[in-house]
Amino acid sequence: MIDQSASPAEPGADDRWWRDGVVYQVYPRSFADSNGDGVGDLAGLIEHLDHLAGGPESLGVDAIWLSPIYPSPMLDGGYDVSDYSAVDPLFGTLADFDRLIEACHRRGTRVILDLVMNHTSSQHPWFVHSRQSASGPFADFYLWRDPSGWSADGQPEPPNNWVSWFGGSAWEWEPLRGQFYLHTFLPEQPDVNWRSPALRRAMWSMVKGWLGHGVDGFRLDVFNAFLKAADLPSNPEIAASGSAPWDRQEHRYDKDQPELHELLAEFRAIVDARPGTATVGELFTSGIDVAVAYWAPRHLIFDWVLLDATWTAASFRTAIAAREAAWGDRWPTIALSNHDHSRHLSRYLDALGPHDGHAADAVAKAAATIELTLRGTPFLYYGEEIGAQDITVPRELARDRAALRMPEWWNRDGCRAPMAWSGATNAGFTSGAPWLPLPPDARTRNVEREAASERSVLAHYRRLLALRRRSPALRSGDLALVDVGDPDVLAYLRRAGDETALVVVRFDGRTGKIELPQAATPWRVALSSHDLATPTVGSRLTLRPFEAIVLAHTMHG
Ligand code: GLC
Repeated sequence: MIDQSASPAEPGADDRWWRDGVVYQVYPRSFADSNGDGVGDLAGLIEHLDHLAGGPESLGVDAIWLSPIYPSPMLDGGYDVSDYSAVDPLFGTLADFDRLIEACHRRGTRVILDLVMNHTSSQHPWFVHSRQSASGPFADFYLWRDPSGWSADGQPEPPNNWVSWFGGSAWEWEPLRGQFYLHTFLPEQPDVNWRSPALRRAMWSMVKGWLGHGVDGFRLDVFNAFLKAADLPSNPEIAASGSAPWDRQEHRYDKDQPELHELLAEFRAIVDARPGTATVGELFTSGIDVAVAYWAPRHLIFDWVLLDATWTAASFRTAIAAREAAWGDRWPTIALSNHDHSRHLSRYLDALGPHDGHAADAVAKAAATIELTLRGTPFLYYGEEIGAQDITVPRELARDRAALRMPEWWNRDGCRAPMAWSGATNAGFTSGAPWLPLPPDARTRNVEREAASERSVLAHYRRLLALRRRSPALRSGDLALVDVGDPDVLAYLRRAGDETALVVVRFDGRTGKIELPQAATPWRVALSSHDLATPTVGSRLTLRPFEAIVLAHTMHG
């Protein structure tokens, strides 16, 4: 199982980090505050890099993905960019960013920036100019259209029936210009016009600018919505009673247009010019088959099948089978949480009903075991490595504007709580007043405390990452689901060369025996969520409540 030659990645030195590595998503506002304003910043992140990589006590991730750090009015957590080529003063300066890149590269850690190119903030100078008049250099940078007609009381009617993902019409009337503009998200997030050659040039030059700063890749926000059908026809309405307006249309014309492939090829050629780079596209409300069609080597795509799975062995088996069938030889991503969804641990525990702290830790470790041993590139979400759960933010204190616009939707503040570093004031996150409440258990559930215990969730994550780094089967092997004779146990084999790993995870609170697949040499426990010992086992194995075990054997014993 041990491949001693595996060493920390050197930027540019090898080309496989996007497949073999583990990516860690940092939500910068919530990671670490260095200046006491209550908001996380780049200097705070730099101070905490040891937690992530490069030190003896590190998690050992290969790359970090930074949610947006650009100047922004922050109506959508920075996904409303008002200047693509700078850093918001809340987070620091461009010089801080360069220091971050340098500090990460010294540790062999890559840095992925979030590129939000479907829309800008309405405060971006492009839009400020574009909304003034239908002539001028920025006139066609956005999707402007005349009204389809006028109502009896003299109100302009939108050009088509498209709706915003955040609720209401996707069209906003601009009296200055006497036209509507399109916004798939908030009205303060106008969609750009990718059919404008000048807009394309401006975007590509921005991308090259960040590559020039040494970034190793990008996460592409809602990339499959970049292009809309040229003549913007209304979408077909579909029957879906009781669901959100977005779900009552077939999104035939407002995303996933065939010309997108050519646009992506242009973008990818620019990124590929810098060796060792990679990207990951955030698929916006489309299915796994659509995700697979956009994939290319070094250009990953998120599908949401695993993130949508519920905490049962059957649900995970179905999700894994669907992924394996759809992705085939291509390389998927693995994500259980991100900044847009309730944290996976909270979702799983809610579904389990009443439980104690031990169950919470056990489920966190079991989920981590799956996340770090499936086939694909794992994307961890900050805080999950200490078993962080959602916080509750009352509606009147909500910072997530989108949630306020969409009454039926979940407030994303819940999964964006400040990181708990220690038992100090404000969990060591800030010396000021944190921008969102700290998790209520931050005094006991924090990095410092968990680092001191071999049995913590954090210790399990570290062991898993180390095991993955040493094991070609776990990093890059193929995957086959297996039946171990218990419907509440998920089991799969990973195989590469003469090494086989077997992962078994119990989803329920029982203790029970399972049957291991026959192997030429005995199975050895490589890692267990419940024990630190690594014994050799026979053909049967007892799994305790929510226990996850990685077993291994090589042809040579
Ligand atoms: C993506 C982001 C989300 C944001 C939306 C609009 O889905 O992940 O946070 O609200 O795009 O930019």
